Amino acid sequence: MPGPLFDTLCGANLAQRPVWLMRQAGRYLPEYRALRADKGGFLELVYDSAAACEITLQPVRRFGFDGAILFSDILIVPHAIGQTLEFLAGEGPRLSPRLLDAALDSLSAVPQRLDTIYATVAQVRAALGPQTTLLGFAGSPWTVATYMVAGEGSRDQHETRELAYRDPPAFQAIIDAISAVTIDYLSGQIAAGAEAVQLFDSWSGSLAPREFERWVIAPNARIVAALADRHPGVPVIGFPKGAGEKLPAYARETGVAAVGIDETIDPLWAAAALPEGLPVQGNLDPLLLLAGGSELESGVRAVLDAFADRPHVFNLGHGIGQFTPIAHVEALLEVVRAWRAP
Ligand code: CP3
Repeated sequence: MPGPLFDTLCGANLAQRPVWLMRQAGRYLPEYRALRADKGGFLELVYDSAAACEITLQPVRRFGFDGAILFSDILIVPHAIGQTLEFLAGEGPRLSPRLLDAALDSLSAVPQRLDTIYATVAQVRAALGPQTTLLGFAGSPWTVATYMVAGEGSRDQHETRELAYRDPPAFQAIIDAISAVTIDYLSGQIAAGAEAVQLFDSWSGSLAPREFERWVIAPNARIVAALADRHPGVPVIGFPKGAGEKLPAYARETGVAAVGIDETIDPLWAAAALPEGLPVQGNLDPLLLLAGGSELESGVRAVLDAFADRPHVFNLGHGIGQFTPIAHVEALLEVVRAWRAP
């Protein structure tokens, strides 16, 4: 029994909506902060399967979410491709050598780094109840490339956008390398027990339309097709954050089973513009969850109402913030669980 989240991703329009929250395991939970302090750092948690399994389960235990998302990070793929990876307190991730300074083929791959992640997936699957869907994930090639090229996060991804214009063949090689590892990586997660996977494209919004076709839609379509071939029936959720009016093309052309939408999208627009029957995931503003109160309750209802006519997974439009009160998450869940599709 794969559960209501899985059924919704496969196209079922259930009266009660399944719910999970992006970044549901993390710093807003005291039990996460305690284990992180104990283990010393974020990567220490990710590469310790028992710890990563425990953290994946923490929010499911506390809130009874319909999905458990593997505790890991999108930057594990560059780490396996051979860059060094660190998370600096208050500054975010650092990768080196950055591909602005070094050629892709100067890196030596360390594929064993992914084996720990598969072990985590298997442990989580064994510990989860049958109604909770286990989600694997990876970053989309474009978003992962922005970190690999610049060596860190950047405000508007300009180094990577410029490289893609200046030297399209070199940038294509980077996208192709990430895509190949991502296909194997997601396939490994599915083989280990992930029942659906999500592709996070956090920075797809910075691309001009033709670039969006080339660096977002094309590689994601390739990943979706390869996974469909290897693992028929396993849904892929695409989350092209910031894609705006390009969402319908993304949904049609990538072949994703479901599309995640961010909080800048009007859900009524999305409900009308996206292909009929396509499951949608989203899209409450994480800041409204932080703020709470009656605005939160009416905001949750507005999202639920907008998607009443199609399969819908309730989620935020982006990751939950670290200062979000637990009571606000409980209030959100109460509204989602009381709601019924007309
Ligand atoms: O959703 C989940 O609960 C699963 C785990 C998950 C994490 N990161 C854990 C994490 C997932 C799916 C991600 C995805 C991710 N990682 C994205 C795409 C989604 C998004 O948020 O846009 C990106 C861009 C990253 C890269 C990344 N990881 C950054 C920029 C940072 C530092 C910023 C920050 O929030 O500290 C991380 C660290 C990170 N990844 C944390 C967690 C829980 C915080 C770690 C900590 O300090 O304890």
